[in-house]
Formats: sequence, C-alpha cells, structure tokens
Amino acid sequence: MQLHTGSVSTNSASWIGCLTYQSRAVLRPSESELEQLVAHARQRNRSLGVTGMLLYENGRFLQTLEGPPDGLATVWSSIQCDKRHRDIEILTEHMVSGRLFSDWDLLLYSREDNPRRTTRASDLAPHALAHYVPGLAQLALAGDDARINAQLASIAEQGWSADDILSHLIEPVARAMGDAWLADQCCEFDLTIGISMLQLAGHAVRTHACTGTLRRSRYSILLATAPGESHMLSTAMLADQFTDAGWQVEMAFPETKEALANQIAAQGHDAVDIALSDALTRQRALVKLREAVEASRKASSGHLVVVSVGGRLFAEATASAATVGADHARRNVGGTSVRLAQLIRQGRTLQ
Ligand SMILES: Cc1cc2nc3c(=O)[nH]c(=O)nc-3n(C[C@H](O)[C@H](O)[C@H](O)COP(=O)(O)O)c2cc1C
Repeated sequence: MQLHTGSVSTNSASWIGCLTYQSRAVLRPSESELEQLVAHARQRNRSLGVTGMLLYENGRFLQTLEGPPDGLATVWSSIQCDKRHRDIEILTEHMVSGRLFSDWDLLLYSREDNPRRTTRASDLAPHALAHYVPGLAQLALAGDDARINAQLASIAEQGWSADDILSHLIEPVARAMGDAWLADQCCEFDLTIGISMLQLAGHAVRTHACTGTLRRSRYSILLATAPGESHMLSTAMLADQFTDAGWQVEMAFPETKEALANQIAAQGHDAVDIALSDALTRQRALVKLREAVEASRKASSGHLVVVSVGGRLFAEATASAATVGADHARRNVGGTSVRLAQLIRQGRTLQ
C-alpha cells in the first residue's frame, strides 16, 4: 500500500490514510469468531489511532480503515497476511483530512442468510437531523455530490454546527449506507464511492463551517472533448456536476491536440477531462487520444495534476486509463468530481 508516509507527515501532520477493501472469508466465521476478531482488532486499532468499519455478509468482508499512515500500514500488513480471508481487493485508497468514523475504533455490521446480530442505523436514538439521513444516504449511493452539497449547505444555514452535522448526519448516513449494503440495496462500488463522497462532504463542513459556504472552489478543471470529437454529452453533464461541487470549470471543444495543449498551457488547471463519444466505440480514436493526453501533459509545465478520460470505450472497459496514458478513466459520470479531487490531493502529496 502506498500511503506516502514521508511527504504527508512533513506537509500536513493531520492528514490520514483511508483504505477500503473487500475479501472472501476462507471459512464462514461463527458469531463468536467474528466478535473475537473484532474485539482484538478494536484493541489494536485503538492503540494505533485507526478507526473504521467492518461489514461481514454471507462469506464476504468489506472494510474501511482510516488512520495515521504508519498505524494504518501496520494494521494493513497484518490483515493482508491473515489466513482467514482471501481474494483481498483494494477498492479505494487515498489521503483525507478528516475521519469519517471518528467515534468507531471498528464499527461492525454483520449478516448471514439467517440474520443473527446486526447493528442498524435505526437502533440509534433519533436526533433532529435524523430525518435527513435516508435521503442523504440515497444521494451518496447515487453519487450525487451536487445535491449532497446543496443539502448540507442548507442545513448549515439553519444554524447547525459542524459537530452536529458530522455526528448526527454524516456518520449516521455512513451507517445507513452500511445497512443498504447488507440489505443488497447497493453494491460495494456504490458504497465506496458514497463513503468517499461523505468524507469530502465532512471535510467541507469542517473547513467552511465559519464561512457558511460549503466546498468553495478549491480546484479547477478543463472539461474538453477529445480533439475533433463531435459528441459532448458527458462533458456537458460533467460541467454541471463540477460547477455544483464548487470547482472552477472551463470547457473546450478543440479541433486539434495543439489547440487543446494551448488552452492547457494558458490556464494552469489542476485537472483536465478529455471525453470521447459516449455513444460510439471509435477504437481508432484511442491513438489520437493518447497523443492528446501526452500533449496536454507537456503543455502544462507541471501544474496539471490529473488527466482523466471518458467515453463509451472506457464505460464498457474496452480501454483503460493506461491505454491512453491517463490517470483516471471514467466508467460513468457519477462521482467524477469526488474521484478527481482525491487524485489531485494524492498527486500533490507526491509532488
Ligand atoms: C476481515 C478481517 C479484518 C480485520 N481487521 C482488523 C483490524 O481492523 N485491525 C486489526 O488489528 N486486525 C484486524 N484483523 C486481524 C488481523 O488480520 C490480525 O490477525 C491481527 O491484527 C493480529 O495481527 P498480528 O498477528 O500481526 O499481530 C482482521 C482480520 C480479518 C480477517
């Protein structure tokens, strides 16, 4: 796992690592085995400053861990060697400036086909903000960060403090999403995107509690169609998403890679998204897209941190980011602003 320990501790001591993975149990654990595992894990996590959530369902684990890079790396190296599970797959891994599971050394949700013991969001005492929880959980699972932001901004305007919003809204929403996963109402991918979105929303609440403005423009992006591409559906949809999320957005419909490169050289964006058609699978366009990616990087003289690409070829996994030398390939539009914000932060940490 690359948690970039050195740079993080130098640049910002408060940044923490966040890792989500899934795996399969080698033998289905009994309830007492699961409780034993979690009791031991909690003790160790507490001593290392690691918090998180562990979901267990019908032979599958999904765990999110967050904590100081050193502590997290220690726990992670134990987990990776643990013979009780296999097929370990990292779903997301990034640095964040605030915890999502601040009060949970390891929150456990579990379910077998025959339900035995589960902690549900609905078991918790209701708070005045509780009625927002199901709706926000739905928005997070749908990757709709624009509406999450709008709703949190309006709640902040009602006078709720950042602590209230974090403890009584954002954390319960995370638990409600865990419930949705256990009830097969969403897949792991939706859950991890939703959790990332909450992490960013939580960060925005903390950072901007004083100004009353959530997620102001911290990053800038050039949303471009691939040179010569006439279809611009996803570029237009992304423009709404990034604008609502508070980014500085510029759009470009260049005819040539040189025109795209000129715009990048002139502006100093943090990221560029270059989109192929969402309707047609123009395999041959990949060579030109790769050239456009290269030209963009060259033109940016180092300020461009993330190059993202999209289009039907990527949505259907016919091509990947690596095919064209990009940092990220969109499978769909939802959640792109969250993912690119994470990549920009990671990239800056490495620089
Ligand atoms: C699915 C799963 C999740 C685990 N989560 C944690 C955890 O969060 N923290 C932890 O210390 N150990 C966790 N463990 C247990 C570790 O893998 C390991 O057994 C334990 O930390 C003891 O490690 P050690 O033998 O290196 O001392 C988990 C094990 C499994 C199978």
